[in-house]
Amino acid sequence: MTRGLPKLYTELASWMPLLTAPEEYAEEAAFFRQVMNEACSPPPRTLLELGSGGGNNASHLKAHFQMTLTDLSPAMLTVSRALNPECEHVEGDMRTLRLGRTFDTVFVHDAIEYMTSEADLKAAMLTAYAHCRPDGVALFAPDDTREHFAPATEHGGYDGADGRSLRYLEWNHDPDPSDDLCVADFVCLLRERDGSVRVEHDRHQFGLFSEEAWLRLLREAGFQPKAMADPWRARLFVAVKPRARM
Ligand SMILES: C[S@@+](CC[C@H](N)C(=O)[O-])C[C@H]1O[C@@H](n2cnc3c(N)ncnc32)[C@H](O)[C@@H]1O
Repeated sequence: MTRGLPKLYTELASWMPLLTAPEEYAEEAAFFRQVMNEACSPPPRTLLELGSGGGNNASHLKAHFQMTLTDLSPAMLTVSRALNPECEHVEGDMRTLRLGRTFDTVFVHDAIEYMTSEADLKAAMLTAYAHCRPDGVALFAPDDTREHFAPATEHGGYDGADGRSLRYLEWNHDPDPSDDLCVADFVCLLRERDGSVRVEHDRHQFGLFSEEAWLRLLREAGFQPKAMADPWRARLFVAVKPRARM
C-alpha cells in the first residue's frame, strides 16, 4: 500500500538514481558498519534494512553483510534491485513487517523520518526488535532530532547515462515548532532525453522527536539504547536487544 508516499518514491522513483548517487554514502556506510561491529558480539553477519529506498547504503554494506532490503514502495524496490541484484528484497511497511526470522543487526537510515507520530515510531522500533537476535543491535539514523533541527536548503542532481538529467532543491523547515513534525519541500527539474524540461514539487512530512522521546520509546520497545553523535547527524541511536533473563 503506497498511498500517501511522496511522488519521489512512486511515480518519480525511476529518477531517484539522478537525485542521489551511491558514492555519496560510502563514508557514512563505513561508519555505520564500524558502529554495528563495535556494538555486536560476535560481529554481525546478517542485516535487515527497513526503508532501504534506492539501496545506496546497501550498495556499500552488502560486501560485508548478508542483506535483506525492505521498503513500502515497489517502485523503490525496483530501483534498488537494479543496484543490488544480489540482495534479497521484500516489500513491507516498517510499522507492521514480520518476516518470522531474526538478523544480527537491523538498520533504519533516513527512512525512519517518515514515522510522523510517536505511535508510528514505536511501531517501527517494535519491528526492529522483532527481527533482531538477542545481543544483536538495531541502528536508527534520523537526520534530525527536535533539539538539533535547523532549517536548511541543499541542492544537487546528476546527469544519467540514459540521457536524462535531474537537478533539485530541498528546503527543510518547521512550520509549527510545537508539534512533532517538519517538512521538506523538494523542487525537481527533470530533463528528458529529448531535451524537454518539467518541474515537480514534492512535499515530504517528517517526524521530529526529542532525544528523550527516542530513548524512552526504544526502552519501551525492549532495547537498551544509547544516543551518540556522528559526523553526519546530531544523534545516532544504537539499540542493543538484551538476552532474555532465564
Ligand atoms: C530516502 S529513501 C531511503 C534511502 C536509503 N537510506 C538509501 O540508502 O538509499 C526513504 C525510503 O523510505 C521508504 N518508506 C517510507 N515510509 C515507509 C514505511 N512506512 N515502511 C517502509 N519504508 C518506508 C520510502 O518508500 C523510501 O524508499
